[in-house]
Amino acid sequence: MSTVAELLSQARRDGAEDAPLLLAHVLGKDRSWLYAWPEHVPGSAQLHRYLNLLQRRRQGEPLAYLTGEKEFWSLPLKVSPAVLIPRPETELLVELALSLELPRGARILELGTGSGAIAIALSRERADWHITATDASPGALEIARDNARRHQTPGIEFLQGDWYQPLSGSREYQLIISNPPYVAPDDPHLLQDGLPHEPRQALCADNAGLDDLETIIRQAPGYLAPGGWLLLEHGFDQGRRLRQWFAETGFEQVNTHQDLGGQDRVTLGCYSPSP
Ligand SMILES: C[S@@+](CC[C@H](N)C(=O)[O-])C[C@H]1O[C@@H](n2cnc3c(N)ncnc32)[C@H](O)[C@@H]1O
Repeated sequence: MSTVAELLSQARRDGAEDAPLLLAHVLGKDRSWLYAWPEHVPGSAQLHRYLNLLQRRRQGEPLAYLTGEKEFWSLPLKVSPAVLIPRPETELLVELALSLELPRGARILELGTGSGAIAIALSRERADWHITATDASPGALEIARDNARRHQTPGIEFLQGDWYQPLSGSREYQLIISNPPYVAPDDPHLLQDGLPHEPRQALCADNAGLDDLETIIRQAPGYLAPGGWLLLEHGFDQGRRLRQWFAETGFEQVNTHQDLGGQDRVTLGCYSPSP
């Protein structure tokens, strides 16, 4: 039977960088525990599970799906293959939303909530906001509801359906925010870095990844209050097209922001219908 120290040194020799996280996960401890208890001998079921997870990791499964958790906005969120793993660059959407001067009790709509990451981060920061979050995937909404319970944001209303379809259609929202699918279905990156394990419905959109972004922009005037904001995450090469659609649809103060890598990542605008 191997000790924790022996398992970790074997993993180091194999170049299995995520082994400490996986072993800690299987033992129900944090990583520092492993170094405090190097002589601990995991039980045979734990060892079997650890070796199985290591093997799946070697075959490219994302770490977050193996541990069932990913941190976003410093909040640990449950994830499963039913949801996109929240990305650090999406925190820019949250930062920009929080920088807007919205009234107390503002009504917020998140489209395509996935794990609930954006809606839950906003609700934790602005307890007075009324947030509705939608997704087409019932499996994703189940995870999002679990996360909302875990982070005590019971005020978020979750609805299932195609983009705006589950909503009543009144122009009540001060902010619509979304990180929709925006990868072209033939993008070669889809074959790399764990992306084959993530839901295609969460990643890909037709028309070079632009279809869902266009739907969300063009239908937004039916749901935004005058002076309301639309904030969209998108691909690094989609900003120019989005700014054009925002302007054509009656948005002003249209602007694209870059992520920490200097890539165009979020476009926003304020809806100003002509009188
Ligand atoms: C890129 S993921 C974003 C998930 C999460 N908001 C985040 O930022 O991590 C896009 C989400 O949109 C959802 N989605 C895809 N097509 C949709 C549609 N037609 N109507 C509503 N939601 C849709 C997917 O199920 C997925 O959860």
